[in-house]
Amino acid sequence: MDNDAFLTLGIETSCDETAVAILSGETDVRANLVYSQADLHARYGGVVPEVASRNHLAKLPYLVRQALADARLEVADLSLIAATRGPGLVGPLLVGLSHGKGLAYGLDVPFIGANHLEGHIFSVRLANELFEPPFMALIVSGGHTSLIEVRAFGQYRTVGATVDDAAGEALDKIGKMLDIGYPAGAEIDRLARKGNPSAIHFPRPMAASAGFDFSFAGLKTSVLYHLRKHPRERPEDVAASVLASVVEILTKKSIEATRRYHMDQLVVVGGVAANTHLREGLTRSGEERGILVSFPPTSFCTDNAAMIAAAAAFRHLRLDERHDLSVAPDASLAF
Ligand code: KG4
Ligand code: ZN
Repeated sequence: MDNDAFLTLGIETSCDETAVAILSGETDVRANLVYSQADLHARYGGVVPEVASRNHLAKLPYLVRQALADARLEVADLSLIAATRGPGLVGPLLVGLSHGKGLAYGLDVPFIGANHLEGHIFSVRLANELFEPPFMALIVSGGHTSLIEVRAFGQYRTVGATVDDAAGEALDKIGKMLDIGYPAGAEIDRLARKGNPSAIHFPRPMAASAGFDFSFAGLKTSVLYHLRKHPRERPEDVAASVLASVVEILTKKSIEATRRYHMDQLVVVGGVAANTHLREGLTRSGEERGILVSFPPTSFCTDNAAMIAAAAAFRHLRLDERHDLSVAPDASLAF
């Protein structure tokens, strides 16, 4: 079969997005649906795993049917089924994984239990199919802040990670203090456009430390103390000052890591990679240092299933992988 006729259905349910996508070949997105449950969880100020699982279960069959309709395909046309197997919330993962395995079994096609982090890395390939390693990848999302050395697709080495909160998690918790809804990253991005980034000097935890680990819990706590002392602080100034700190830490560490590992490309993926301040800051810093900094389009930064299908299609077509249907969810799956 030529690669373009190879059709992968991807399913992503690791957190609170129910996502289904269909890919033709390795990078051609034929359908890409993301149903966000954010409104359901907003009143709790965070994701409630049981609520997320039940909602994935209710939405998934309809999203699969709609994705097939969008791509003008029948279910029998599919060549490979992929579903995220971790990391993530175990209940939500189990729903997507079981649905995917059921489809693969019924259709008698191969199955891949995908790594969500590898999916994020592949999101850059959806935007540019010619994009090739070696590169340094900064995965920065609600669950992760990691620097990964990518010598080849499929070969990963973590060179740094957060020791406490992920950057997106810290932004979401700061959003809760500002009472601006959940998740808060995109709203903080917007508010910061109208704020003064020098209004408050928040700490830059671990920015000057040796090595490539991150820490964002201290930043969150210092925002809490600041707001207790200055309850009338403009949210715009808080947002701009918080982002000044987050952007400085992420930029410094990821540019340094790229140079230390003798790479000239840095790829930034995950929900926080949608941040306009980070995109501007890192691009500028990369230009100054001769490093090409790439970001996927915003719609591929936040959780989606096209990236899951892309990682799985690569593993199947290039590495000849397929997984046994006994594959189980793994909440803390690493590389
Ligand atoms: O990758 P993602 O959709 O899910 C995880 O795998 O965690 O990332 C979600 C995170 C949330 O913390 C959200 O607040 C953050 O990405 N986020 C942003 C922006 N859009 C989403 N953070 C900063 N600026 C944005 N524009
Ligand atoms: Zn993610």
